[in-house]
Amino acid sequence: MDAALLAQARDRIAAASQIFVLTGAGVSAESGVPTFRDALTGLWARFDPEELATEAAYRRQPALVWQWYEHRRAMVSATQPNPAHFALAQLADQRPVTLVTQNIDGLHQQAGSQQVIELHGNLFANKWLDGCGRCDTVPPVPGEPPHCALCGAMMRPGVVWFGEDLPRVARYRAEHAAETCDLCLVVGTSGLVYPAAALPGMARENGAFVIVVNPQPSALDATADLVLAAPAGQCLPALW
Ligand code: OAD
Repeated sequence: MDAALLAQARDRIAAASQIFVLTGAGVSAESGVPTFRDALTGLWARFDPEELATEAAYRRQPALVWQWYEHRRAMVSATQPNPAHFALAQLADQRPVTLVTQNIDGLHQQAGSQQVIELHGNLFANKWLDGCGRCDTVPPVPGEPPHCALCGAMMRPGVVWFGEDLPRVARYRAEHAAETCDLCLVVGTSGLVYPAAALPGMARENGAFVIVVNPQPSALDATADLVLAAPAGQCLPALW
């Protein structure tokens, strides 16, 4: 980690009055949650996430996609927040922070962050697909999505799939926070998935100073005023 850049980032954060934080899978990497694009190990190595994480894929192969989510739930349940999650929770105790995440793992909340804006939903939530409005589950069969006892509709994971809109309130709140911050901190995202990836650009256009924390080059480096090429769990605790 470049000490001069770190010191510059620390000063910027200390002087900021509204901090907007956008996190991605990299913030959970040190907890052992595979980043989304590396997630398909073992049993799932044959599948492309962009083919599993769609409504069409779910309708075509519900048991397969449901099992993929059960696998991910089990994997995430065995993890703990890491120093990056704890540092972000601590920052919000000291300063006005809006924390927006693309992650669905709930680790920010487990570390103590409150009012986290989840742009892509939550891995542990379910909702009905084409439900009758009075849906009630029958006891689930292992490896199969639960069904409604009344209308037969399936449950689906409460996450945003490819091709779906972001939850409207979360998106509105995230955009408002991006547009009104004076410091934008982007942690552990490849910056490839929109509309989340547009938020740092909105912050920058409105005059915010943008800091990217990522050990690898990312698509948001071009938007950043300062790039800290380091793992989040090492870098964030050193920043405040
Ligand atoms: P990606 O898997 O695309 O990118 C993870 C980023 O984290 C990469 O840029 C890595 O270099 C970086 N990284 C890895 N280890 C890190 C560490 N220790 N500290 C900091 N950064 C680290 O994940 P996202 O950008 O979150 O969407 O992906 C965005 C969205 O694409 C996901 O929310 C998901 C996916 O499709 C949906 O499911 C809708």
